[in-house]
Amino acid sequence: MFMGKILVTSALPYANGDIHLGHLAGCYLPADIYVRYQRMKKRDVIHIGGTDEHGVPITIKARQEGKSPKEIVDYYHKRIKESFEKFGIIFDNFSRTTKPIHYEITKEFFLRIYNRGYIEKRTTEQFYCTQCGMFLADRYVEGTCPYCGYEEARGDQCEKCGRWLEPFMLKNPRCKICGSTPERRSTFHYYFKLDMLQKELEEWIASKTHWKDNVTRFTKGWFKEGLEPRAITRDISWGVPVPLKEAEGKVFYVWFDAPIGYISSTVEWAEKKGDKELWKDYWMSPDTRLIHFIGKDNIVFHAIVWPAMLMAHGDFILPSDIPANEFLTLEGRPLSTSRNWAVWLPEYLEEFPPDPLRYAIASNAPENRDVDFRWKDFQARNNNELADIYGNFVNRVIQFSAKYLGGRIPELTSLSSESTEVLKRVEELFMKTQEMYENFRVKEAVRLFMEIAQEGNRYFDYSEPWRTRKEDMDKCNETIGVCFRIIKMLAQVSSPVLPFTAEKVRRQLRLDSLDMVVEHEMGTEIGEPEILFRKIDDRTIELKIEELGKGKKEKEEKIMDRISIEEFKKIQLKIAKILEAEKVEGADRLLKLKVSLGDEERTLVAGIAQFYSPEELIGKEIVVVANLMPAKIRGIESNGMLLAAVKGDRLALLIPDKEIEPGTPVS
Ligand code: 2FM
Ligand code: ZN
Repeated sequence: MFMGKILVTSALPYANGDIHLGHLAGCYLPADIYVRYQRMKKRDVIHIGGTDEHGVPITIKARQEGKSPKEIVDYYHKRIKESFEKFGIIFDNFSRTTKPIHYEITKEFFLRIYNRGYIEKRTTEQFYCTQCGMFLADRYVEGTCPYCGYEEARGDQCEKCGRWLEPFMLKNPRCKICGSTPERRSTFHYYFKLDMLQKELEEWIASKTHWKDNVTRFTKGWFKEGLEPRAITRDISWGVPVPLKEAEGKVFYVWFDAPIGYISSTVEWAEKKGDKELWKDYWMSPDTRLIHFIGKDNIVFHAIVWPAMLMAHGDFILPSDIPANEFLTLEGRPLSTSRNWAVWLPEYLEEFPPDPLRYAIASNAPENRDVDFRWKDFQARNNNELADIYGNFVNRVIQFSAKYLGGRIPELTSLSSESTEVLKRVEELFMKTQEMYENFRVKEAVRLFMEIAQEGNRYFDYSEPWRTRKEDMDKCNETIGVCFRIIKMLAQVSSPVLPFTAEKVRRQLRLDSLDMVVEHEMGTEIGEPEILFRKIDDRTIELKIEELGKGKKEKEEKIMDRISIEEFKKIQLKIAKILEAEKVEGADRLLKLKVSLGDEERTLVAGIAQFYSPEELIGKEIVVVANLMPAKIRGIESNGMLLAAVKGDRLALLIPDKEIEPGTPVS
């Protein structure tokens, strides 16, 4: 049994969208289950995570929403963190790759491998958009796929035929931001010389005979093709700056800095713990097992590029295991966030408790192949398995005790052969379930602990305590005593998957904890009976299915568009009285206004000449934005903006409904 430290990481999700079912099944739930299990065994384990806040997907989202990348990542970091917490995914530290500590560590990391000769500089050609004034990363170029003719292929891949592309392969290339045709320009980038490490990597992976097949198979394919230097920098402004004088304006490619986030998040964790050096016990100790939980789309980065970075650096341990899961499909179709073919975690949590989904995912986890998630299946698992088997067993025993045994957990003095046998079987299942957790086989673990509940139900039925309570009280006490023992083991061993349920059971049994190392006495009296699982009706499930593919984006954007009261307060609105008005020469639409703000006079230029004559405006009171930066319009400096409602070809000025002193603030 391994007794050293265990450092668990989960892939850092991009902070450009909510967490959905695919993320949960791919890595977060398996990681959390593993960590909870190890913690229950009292092992020294930490779970490190955070959000991945750089990269083109984030800048693209920011442009789409008319926000800055910082606004996007602030918003999603918070949402992601909160929904993980509610779903019971526990991190010892959940950081962000935009924190200064991460910048610092990334820069140090780079300089170290640079100084050790693993980096080279190469000049290349790249598309440059003269309209937007920037080099275009692969995903910022769109055009026609040279293979299938699809007109909206991206510079890195054609979504239609799935082929990998290079931006220069596209026909009719366009800038994704402004649509104009980009030009080829020369630039330079830093390349990580992966080829130098191929041999070492191959030998290392060959020693990982216990790894999942999907991971080793994948890496072999890459080795066969031969590893080549990879560009690790980009000409964009959002990212960690490259710490070299000659590289001003360049930042690291997101996949270079993101995995370093595992280290910086651990460093941050140690600082929070008040022991700055503590992280080294994990990252630098050969006794630590480093386990990266990821989805299969991240294999190449975690099994090749990142270990190569660690090798090039030299001070850190290498991953001991990379349990990568396959994909999840939803109602028979691939998940698609743009088409909203997804189950979003915050929305799920508005309607259902966490455990049924944790259970549904765990019992049908994409461990070795892609699997399909169906709402009907979710319902069946909740109703027919959790409620009817697990919940029923726990509930009937607790109810029985409350009703007939004064809410007591009977002591076990002697055991009949049936009782001895059922306890033996349950103990075996209890041990086997743990072995499965240890080996990342969550699906099998779930099957085994549900067998414990089934054994419990069978034993209860067979022993007929409702009969023996009238005829043979000792026997009745024995049955219920044995059932309580089974419940305790069931709660313990299911708690990594069903933490909220196990906690309810713990409370009902009045146990101090469910940890597996310290043997604790069971309380002799039980607490208040609580319902463990509620059944879910057909209509609820039908609605979930109907919702698929519809409207979440809209809802999300509405939230994104809200501003805080503090933001609103930044805008100074004031009442202004129009003193003079005249046409602006050579501009049909513009009027030049002189207004009074009480203690000052200002000039404004407004596009209202087609709606109001200068004469009818003089003397009117209006509302203006008083703290707008001045702007030159037709050579006239405009110092403020008036407010008007505009619809099609109609315009109405906002006017106070009674006279009030010019300069009065509007709020
Ligand atoms: O695929 C993704 O969502 C990436 N943001 C995962 C990064 S994992 C790690 F390297 F940070
Ligand atoms: Zn452009």
